[in-house]
Amino acid sequence: MAAAGSAVGLGNVWRFPYITGKYGGAAFVLIYLAVVVVIGMSVMLAELAIGRKAKLDAVGSFRKLMGGAWPIVGWMGFFCGFVILSYYAVIAGWTMAYMFKSFGGLMGEAAAGKAGDVFGAFVSDPVLTVVYLCVVMAVVIGVVYRGISGGIEKSCKVLMPALFGILIILIIRSVTLPGATEGLRFYLLPDFSKVSGEGVLAAVGQGFFSLSLGMGIMITYGSYLGNHENMPHMTRIIVCLDTAVAIMAGLVIFPAVFAFGVDAGAGPGLTFVTLPIVFSKMPMGGFFSFAFFALLFIAAFTSAISLFEVVVTYSIDELHWSRAKSAIVMGLAITLLGVPSALSVGGHIPQIFGKDFLDAADFVTNNVVMPLGGMLIALFVGWFWTKGATDEVTNNGELNFKYYTAWLWICRVIAPLCIALIFINGLKW
Ligand code: TRP
Repeated sequence: MAAAGSAVGLGNVWRFPYITGKYGGAAFVLIYLAVVVVIGMSVMLAELAIGRKAKLDAVGSFRKLMGGAWPIVGWMGFFCGFVILSYYAVIAGWTMAYMFKSFGGLMGEAAAGKAGDVFGAFVSDPVLTVVYLCVVMAVVIGVVYRGISGGIEKSCKVLMPALFGILIILIIRSVTLPGATEGLRFYLLPDFSKVSGEGVLAAVGQGFFSLSLGMGIMITYGSYLGNHENMPHMTRIIVCLDTAVAIMAGLVIFPAVFAFGVDAGAGPGLTFVTLPIVFSKMPMGGFFSFAFFALLFIAAFTSAISLFEVVVTYSIDELHWSRAKSAIVMGLAITLLGVPSALSVGGHIPQIFGKDFLDAADFVTNNVVMPLGGMLIALFVGWFWTKGATDEVTNNGELNFKYYTAWLWICRVIAPLCIALIFINGLKW
């Protein structure tokens, strides 16, 4: 449940719809599903196996199991955790702001067709966005500082069903809007002429981001697992839950996008512009809006904790810092790095070669470092630590893991080859 809590977050509700909108809808969704089932599930199982065997953080696990240059994969994870959290906290801050806006004028303005203006005004407020970033980081630092992330698993058990419930209500509202069919067509009827190499790379990046893969988080969670747990089964559950939430979020967003004439390729603001309009067309819209953004905030928060745990665990294990020092020093550094992201969406700082700072941070981690990390992890279990991995995923032969051969060859050849090809064809700034 804690791993599912790490996986389900802004990636599903904020990032998935806007990336799907940007890369053409249904065809992208199909590619995404294929990526998740073939590459995502295999890499997740590989990460869990590595962690459960070594019982250490990612850097330590690679060092213990193989040594050589392998711990670099762990350091890549440290880098990703650091950079992703810096902008993730910015978006989590938006979610918090929208929670409070639900009872302000948000419903009225959205009903008057001004949801885009509200969003634009909010993200271009340099003080407010930075203050929200600091508030979110303060809470994240506080929880990790005191090492109380134990409550995370419990909160997931309540939170996730609630998030599911409210998404179902929203889907019903959204698909019954006049003009919703056009959106369903965009989201569900694939037009493969829209597929590009860049889009396929984006699908891989989104798959890794949404499942929290490629940077050793699942290695850390694997290290907490007992030796008799059925990891292939666990992997299926996490992947299904995470994917279900993403698909459901799309079913809310796209019918509404087309019904209200929002631009599907609007970028990072898509969810924040579209949802308030949906809420404004519902009885008790303010209440639903508040409940939804509160749940999304908690989902984002559990993910943010998992990102920060990676950074903090590494500095404890590798730099030999105390937990308190790690949480505070790293937390402050991440908050500082978040400031340009927070300011960039409103256009307050110059772009980096045509990308907002936030987009640039997102691009480097999701489209470059994480797929590379996933590829190395797959190669590691496929070729270097194969016997150990085999014993681990089958609980020393106790389990009958039907897809073992498929998994092995995906790790050996298919996943690394796909990722390499996608890099060659799709890596464009
Ligand atoms: N998976 C989370 C989401 O979808 C984000 C996240 C948490 C993450 N931990 C991660 C992404 C580790 C990559 C790696 O919102």
